Amino acid sequence: MRQTVLNLEESKIREVANAGMGRGDVLPFWFGESDEVTPDFIREAAIASLQKGETFYAHNLGLPELREAIAGYASSLHGPIGAERIAVTSGGVNALMLACQAVVDAGDEVVAVTPVWPNLPAQALIMGARLKRVSLTPRDGAWTLDLQKLLDAITPATRLLIVNAPNNPTGWTLSRGEQQAILEHCRKTGTWILADEVYERLYYEPTANGCAPSFLDVAEPDDRLVVAHSFSKSFLMTGWRLGWLVLPPAMTHHMGKLIEFNTSCASVFTQRAAVEAIRRTADVTPRVVAHLKTCRDTLVPLLQALPRVELAPAKGGMYAFFHLDGFDDSLILAKRLVAEAGIGLAPGNAFAPEAQGWLRWCFASKDVARLRQGVDRLAGWLAR
Ligand SMILES: Cc1ncc(COP(=O)(O)O)c(C=O)c1O
Repeated sequence: MRQTVLNLEESKIREVANAGMGRGDVLPFWFGESDEVTPDFIREAAIASLQKGETFYAHNLGLPELREAIAGYASSLHGPIGAERIAVTSGGVNALMLACQAVVDAGDEVVAVTPVWPNLPAQALIMGARLKRVSLTPRDGAWTLDLQKLLDAITPATRLLIVNAPNNPTGWTLSRGEQQAILEHCRKTGTWILADEVYERLYYEPTANGCAPSFLDVAEPDDRLVVAHSFSKSFLMTGWRLGWLVLPPAMTHHMGKLIEFNTSCASVFTQRAAVEAIRRTADVTPRVVAHLKTCRDTLVPLLQALPRVELAPAKGGMYAFFHLDGFDDSLILAKRLVAEAGIGLAPGNAFAPEAQGWLRWCFASKDVARLRQGVDRLAGWLAR
């Protein structure tokens, strides 16, 4: 096997979850998904498609109806985006991997803003990239970007910048001004931007369109920009494995080839469900976001009230990322919390070495009382 693959680190989040999965006495907050089932009208669209016998291969780039629907949805948030720029993918993670395959050659330099969901740097490493991490800085429990430090790290030798905002795990987001500055800098250095904006709708700051600032708001269609999206979070569709890419128009045809050689296409019945999800966005997403805000606003003050805990409310995403003073190994800490407190959290060092001592709590809990119960367990454990 390739040494690169042998060297890939196993997921530390999985390591913790494996220690506690199936144990009825553990409250799981380790994975990034809601515990709420996909709305029934979305499921019914998939069932109807299957009953019609839609069990065949589809177009590499997705059903034309879905590409049109996504283009309309994206245009309503970011201004005109044509369907010729949309590629339907088998999940957000597949969208991100395809983007890496499209631009990264072995030996290329890739800059990633961290802490970040570990799949993003791993995908660049699989392509044989030389990875340069630019870390956000924690200040009073919130992670902030030193813009100049990031710009200095991106040089003409940088093939790709990977940036995820709203960010998993920190909840940090980019401002429009920062996006503008990064884009202008990358135009000069000839660097591609891979923007992971799967959490764009899970944004808790006041906005006109209920959406975090996006690179799509500031870029031209022909910029070296690829934006990755997912149905998982804002439509409660994690298990469906459906996402999309917004591409420069000249790239779409070639992306179709890559999709052919990876997965060939997304299944038709999930795409039919996605058309319905978009058609009824107003019946899903605003409710999901309002509930997540309630979850965040319940959990964060309770955690802030605990001794030795430092955190700031996330501006976006579905995570409380907090520092627990006195513990310098997050993985050991997370495993102890499973074993001794019955609470499942993701270790901070899964997202970056600099996040040792931090823990990620996914607050997407249908029942807010479970969050309170979790805090009680953590408080009891800390007191002991
Ligand atoms: C930052 C980020 N990007 C992409 C994804 C991919 O989501 P999916 O593959 O379920 O669409 C996730 C999932 O947790 C994520 O946290």
